[in-house]
Amino acid sequence: MKVCTIIICLCTIVESVNILGIFHLPSYSHHTVFQAIYKALSKHHKVTVVTPFSLNDPALVNLTEINISDGASRVFKGIESLFLVERDIPSHVKLRKAFELSYKLSEVVLNERRFIDIYNASTSEIDLVIVQEFFSPVLYPVAAKLGAPLVGVSSMGVGTLRHLAMGNPNPLATYSDILFPHGRRMKLFQKIKNVLYYMWSRYYLNFEALPKCDQIARKYLGNDLPYIQDIEKNMSLLLLTTNPILYEPRPNVPTVISMEQMHIKPVKPLPKDLKQFLDSAKEGAVYFSLGSNVKSINIPEKLRKLLIEAFAELPYKVLWKFEDDNLPGKPKNVFIGKWIPQQDVLAHPNVKVFVTQCGLQSIEEAISRGVPMVGMPFIADQTRNIRRLSEEGAAIGLDHTTVTKEEFKNAIIEVISNPKYKENVKRLADIWVDHPLPSLNRTIWWIEYVIRHKGTKHLRSPTADVSWFEYLLVDVILVLLLAISLVIFVLYKTVKFILTRICGGAKIKQN
Ligand SMILES: *[C@@H]1O[C@H](CO)[C@@H](O)[C@H](O)[C@H]1NC(C)=O
Ligand SMILES: *[C@@H]1O[C@H](CO)[C@@H](O)[C@H](O)[C@H]1NC(C)=O
Ligand SMILES: *[C@@H]1O[C@H](CO)[C@@H](O)[C@H](O)[C@H]1NC(C)=O
Ligand SMILES: *[C@@H]1O[C@H](CO)[C@@H](O)[C@H](O)[C@H]1NC(C)=O
Ligand SMILES: *[C@@H]1O[C@H](CO)[C@@H](O)[C@H](O)[C@H]1NC(C)=O
Repeated sequence: MKVCTIIICLCTIVESVNILGIFHLPSYSHHTVFQAIYKALSKHHKVTVVTPFSLNDPALVNLTEINISDGASRVFKGIESLFLVERDIPSHVKLRKAFELSYKLSEVVLNERRFIDIYNASTSEIDLVIVQEFFSPVLYPVAAKLGAPLVGVSSMGVGTLRHLAMGNPNPLATYSDILFPHGRRMKLFQKIKNVLYYMWSRYYLNFEALPKCDQIARKYLGNDLPYIQDIEKNMSLLLLTTNPILYEPRPNVPTVISMEQMHIKPVKPLPKDLKQFLDSAKEGAVYFSLGSNVKSINIPEKLRKLLIEAFAELPYKVLWKFEDDNLPGKPKNVFIGKWIPQQDVLAHPNVKVFVTQCGLQSIEEAISRGVPMVGMPFIADQTRNIRRLSEEGAAIGLDHTTVTKEEFKNAIIEVISNPKYKENVKRLADIWVDHPLPSLNRTIWWIEYVIRHKGTKHLRSPTADVSWFEYLLVDVILVLLLAISLVIFVLYKTVKFILTRICGGAKIKQN
């Protein structure tokens, strides 16, 4: 018995190893997911991360943070107005922009002195590289250079191209790319768009993006590397933040794992001024925030005026996350704060509705605290998110470009006064937390599995290695068509031959 236990322990315990993490996109809400992972890993391992958001927590003695906040925010500011705040840019333009952003960010990362000292030193002993997944594989070659297995982690789902690289089946009839806001069933014209985008994106990846990524990687990491596409397909584990409410279930190979609730924390007491304000909101309170990317300070003047007027006419108190000290024309029932502990505010019993831009992390926080939503999507996956929540009866979606004051007010009043919304959010929350093991435990187990087995080559799907024409059975279909044509041809020739013989013979007899 004892021997058994010891053997089991030996298999599941990983010795302390060196882990390198690269989380380069300077968009704060995403980092709450990554921080949860590397904090947990640093309890047992030596972890070094490149990040624009240091935790600076002296209690995390095994964690080294390389702060790239200056360079990363400079790059990010330059492109922000281009594609993040605009919702109606076509998907193929967005994909191109996302790649261009990744090229610039990767150069910030690869130019960082303390990071060069790690990847360029022959003495570096790194056992695992974790890279933030954001469309482009440009930083994956760091793992190949250091000879370590690669783990990708995304704070959302991923696009079709990443699913393909992992060998995930991706039937185009039922799964649209993450950049499309389609619901669970696509209409014919949406499917056509989906197929055309798929063909274009594969072309773009293979002939434009990958060669460029490869070139950037070689510039910094040297020429002694496999081609970037081979590195991309060699990823050992892909961790996604997909939850069964917002993302349709899909077939995944064993190395694609979904994480949930990574950034949800236990409820903490509120700061005094916020607590006082919300305690006094006996009639109910609206919490309004557009998150850390959109920011309510950036919205058009016209929309801001409309919101102010609507809030002033509501019979509720309003807590507004506003990124300035002063909101001109602020109504009496509105309280503004530059930084708001969102998870704790949403847990306050007087908060009855969350007016949100529908970012994934915000929605998840509202669901976990049981607060129904009014959604005004701006960018990225937000349109898709609010569509799902509306289908589930947990939110009302509004279009910020066309919404009127009355529509906005009515949506808030409807969500607060109709109990259906709250009940549906609670139903979703119950589904969401029902798992055999907490998400963080599953995630850490999988990461340590990769470390224990030095990669997951044994779990690699053969789909990752076949070309598109093999995957779509074009070769089989061609051979079968050829065979059928041959049979038909032979039959035709035989029948013709027999007929001419019989008819020909008959003719001779007649004559
Ligand atoms: C640091 O890592 C070691 C293992 O290498 C572990 O024993 C220790 O508890 C860790 N310290 C903290 C504060 O997580
Ligand atoms: C490091 O990160 C923090 C955010 O966590 C940021 O406020 C700070 O300016 C950064 N420090 C440097 C030296 O870039
Ligand atoms: C990496 O190291 C080599 C020498 O070992 C040096 O020539 C090269 O400039 C270094 N690369 C960077 C980016 O510092
Ligand atoms: C694939 O990853 C393993 C580690 O998991 C590594 O040993 C191998 O060299 C990698 N191959 C390529 C082509 O990157
Ligand atoms: C999950 O992980 C934490 C921290 O390592 C541990 O304390 C807890 O017991 C684990 N829970 C389960 C159900 O394994």
